[in-house]
Formats: sequence, C-alpha cells, structure tokens
Amino acid sequence: MGIPQPAFYIFKCEQSSPPGMPKPSCVNEQTKDLFQHLGQTLMQKGLIATVQPVRTACLNRCQLGPVMLVEPGHHMYVNLDKEKITRIIDEHIIGGKVVEEYLIPEEFWDEALSPMEAMKMAGR
Ligand code: FES
Repeated sequence: MGIPQPAFYIFKCEQSSPPGMPKPSCVNEQTKDLFQHLGQTLMQKGLIATVQPVRTACLNRCQLGPVMLVEPGHHMYVNLDKEKITRIIDEHIIGGKVVEEYLIPEEFWDEALSPMEAMKMAGR
C-alpha cells in the first residue's frame, strides 16, 4: 500500500497588505491566528493525516476576506472567523455537508471559463 493522498486540501489565504495600503487583506491584527486555528483544530480532531491545510497568497476575493478554498469541490468560504472555520471542519470535512451560508455569493463565483475560452478572450 502506498502513501495515501489527502482527502481534502484547504487553501487559506495568508496575504497581508502593508499598513496604509488601500487593498483589503485576509490577515490583519484580528484575523492573524486563523491559519493556526485551522491547523490546530484539524490536529485535535485527528484529521491532519488526510486534510492538508495550505497557506496561500491572494485568491483574488480580497473584498470578502478572510477567505479559504476547500478542494475538491471549489468551495470558497468567505468572511471567516474561528467559529466558522470550526463549523466548516465539523460539517463539511467530517460530515460531508457544505456549509452553504458561509460560501461566497454566486455573483463573486460564477462558472469557470474553460481554458479554451480564456485563451480565446486573450486573443491566443
Ligand atoms: S488578500 Fe486574501 S483573497 Fe486577496
């Protein structure tokens, strides 16, 4: 038997814009320990062997931060805090039921362009 692949990856945006910059960011004084909370909760619940938390740079939905993307499934969770992250782990990761009320609004997460469509739009 080989090394099992993760059942889930959780990509947590860890972008922090410098003070004074107009762009919102997913990490500030109030939200800086969310990644740690995510990792610790996965550890405490015995999930770390199959759920891989990943720190990422900007996921391009800064106005709705803090955000994290759960794969598989392309589930983008927004406006996160510790309680929401714990609930996502309990209900989505363990229970298999997406927490709809924390998902990004549809107008910010429309159908993906296919690579062919994107190339056409880019004139390639
Ligand atoms: S800074 Fe987190 S999505 Fe852009």
